[in-house]
Amino acid sequence: MNRILVTGAGGQIGSWLVPKLRELYGESAVLATDIRSLGPQMTKAGPFQVLDATDARAVGQAAMRHDADVIYHLAAILSAVGERDPRLAWHVNMGSLEAVLEVAREQHCAVFTPSSIGVFGPDSPKDPAPQDTILRPGTMYGITKVAGELLCDYYHRHFGVDARGVRFPGLISYGAPPGGGTTDWAVDIFYQAVESGRYTCFLSGRTQLDMMYMPDAIRAAIGIMEADPERLVHRNAFNVTAMQLTPEGLAEEIRKHLPAFTIAYDIDPVRQDIADSWPDRIDDTAARDEWGWKPDFDTVAMTTDMLTHLKG
Ligand code: NAD
Ligand code: SER
Repeated sequence: MNRILVTGAGGQIGSWLVPKLRELYGESAVLATDIRSLGPQMTKAGPFQVLDATDARAVGQAAMRHDADVIYHLAAILSAVGERDPRLAWHVNMGSLEAVLEVAREQHCAVFTPSSIGVFGPDSPKDPAPQDTILRPGTMYGITKVAGELLCDYYHRHFGVDARGVRFPGLISYGAPPGGGTTDWAVDIFYQAVESGRYTCFLSGRTQLDMMYMPDAIRAAIGIMEADPERLVHRNAFNVTAMQLTPEGLAEEIRKHLPAFTIAYDIDPVRQDIADSWPDRIDDTAARDEWGWKPDFDTVAMTTDMLTHLKG
């Protein structure tokens, strides 16, 4: 049975994940929820409910009414917004995860929770950052992601909750805009390239970070939830990646399609600090070995597809 509840459904990931889940499991099987009301694409194509994911009672009632057996928990505050308001990041990221895991324990649901490259910090190896390594992030976002990974492990070990997850890198997509992260430049650059032919980047040109195109991220989220549990050693918080990008490298790739495109730099010290504390590359061997993870899109294919969609 796949009766699915999605929190934070209106965000960058949810706006892609919900339609895919509805296509796979049926429109009425997927209850989309978010703290804000959303457009007709989300609310007319299947059930939708306004839901604050930090409200454990409301999450429990929604899961019960929907008869949910899987929760994709996407509600969160991302890294840059989290540095502007660290208490909000702690409240939303930890409060909602605790609420979702408790509901999962009581109602026997499986849970998908995305972690992030934000779990790594200045002390983690940079190239590559292994699956199992030192995790001492300097951001509140990273702190909530490390604590979240541990909490998921705890609920699995002590209460048998089938909690699984991946550490997503920066995600690139069209449609719903990114929610205030350090990797947002890799989305903004495409919109600005098409709209004005130039982009001013808030990170330095040589800052390298892991990235992934959204169709691969959706395959990863569904893939880990459908993986054979017998094969999973790590279960929760697998490193996954598809490509490593720098602003100057991606600008060069975009120029193959839009030769007049130019990039300039106006560095934001807060986001530059965050990016500098994250790895240049993560090692996703465990995900490849334990559940067959493999991305479809590299930089060339992703750039072509993004520009094709944005140029309309
Ligand atoms: P987003 O910011 O685009 O969307 C988050 C959604 O959560 C928004 O629609 C927002 O309205 C909703 N929300 C906020 N507070 C809420 C609350 N209290 N209750 C219910 N809904 C609430 O984020 P996203 O990019 O879709 O990320 C989803 C998850 O994936 C997060 O856990 C994020 O940390 C993780 N992740 C994202 C990326 C990325 O590049 N997008 C990378 C790594 C990990
Ligand atoms: N894209 C996310 C961020 O920058 C990574 O978790 O916050």
